[in-house]
Amino acid sequence: MTLEGKVCVVTGGARGIGRTIVETYAAAGAKAVYAIDMGFGGFEKMSTTHASVKSVVLDVTDSAAVNAAVEQIRTDEGRIDVLVNNAGITRDNLIQKMSDDEWNAVIAVNLTGVFNMARAVGPLMMEQGEGAIVNMASIVALTGNVGQSNYAATKGGVVSLTKTWAKEFARRGAKVRVNAIAPGFIRTPMTEKVPEKILDAMIGKTLLGRMGEPEDVASAALWLASDAASFVTAQVISVDGGLVI
Ligand SMILES: NC(=O)c1ccc[n+]([C@@H]2O[C@H](COP(=O)([O-])OP(=O)(O)OC[C@H]3O[C@@H](n4cnc5c(N)ncnc54)[C@H](O)[C@@H]3O)[C@@H](O)[C@H]2O)c1
Repeated sequence: MTLEGKVCVVTGGARGIGRTIVETYAAAGAKAVYAIDMGFGGFEKMSTTHASVKSVVLDVTDSAAVNAAVEQIRTDEGRIDVLVNNAGITRDNLIQKMSDDEWNAVIAVNLTGVFNMARAVGPLMMEQGEGAIVNMASIVALTGNVGQSNYAATKGGVVSLTKTWAKEFARRGAKVRVNAIAPGFIRTPMTEKVPEKILDAMIGKTLLGRMGEPEDVASAALWLASDAASFVTAQVISVDGGLVI
């Protein structure tokens, strides 16, 4: 699968799943891959490996900064072909212990951040007549999870937004595809905090008997971004080794 000539934007691109998507897109021949993140400790090294990778320090919750960054990319590249809304955080707690700050922080990044990016990029893709948006949901959107009221609400919202934008951005003949990926348990800095006991229990329930790797999710993100998925939109693709069936 190739992304030859495509201009791609990936949020949360400094580490974990996002970073692997950035590397995968660059290796697939993308003309430019804009990796957006709050900071890039150690990330510069990667930019030298792939000349097409450009790092942009940006907080996706800041809508004015998002609009300015997207406008800059449009000025520099003339178009945006692929947007991956991957930036996400967790602030887990049982609901009775969950603070306003924990609730608001997760809503701000996982939901408002995704909205900010799509509002800036979606209409531009409509103008171009084509584009692909990939939103990072979670199996938690489908199953719920104890201690994750904030996270589950945002990932459920991401699934609804995916279907809404698939309809909204496909109007007037525009071939803008919007899909979501629902990863299971993937080995990244985010899941480093999850206690071993819980991870072992999850692996026990996973048909393929292992945690996922960022590459497992990046392959799905490559397919959805590529023309190989040109008749696929409004879908939620689980990449979870058969954890949720
Ligand atoms: N790891 C998993 O098991 C798993 C499972 C399901 C879904 N997901 C989802 O996949 C996505 C990536 O997860 P990950 O495990 O790679 O996480 P991670 O914590 O390793 O990486 C997330 C990246 O997002 C960036 N980020 C956070 N807030 C930001 C903001 N306001 N603006 C810009 N960037 C910001 C972080 O700096 C970080 O580089 C998230 O949306 C997450 O919810 C992960």
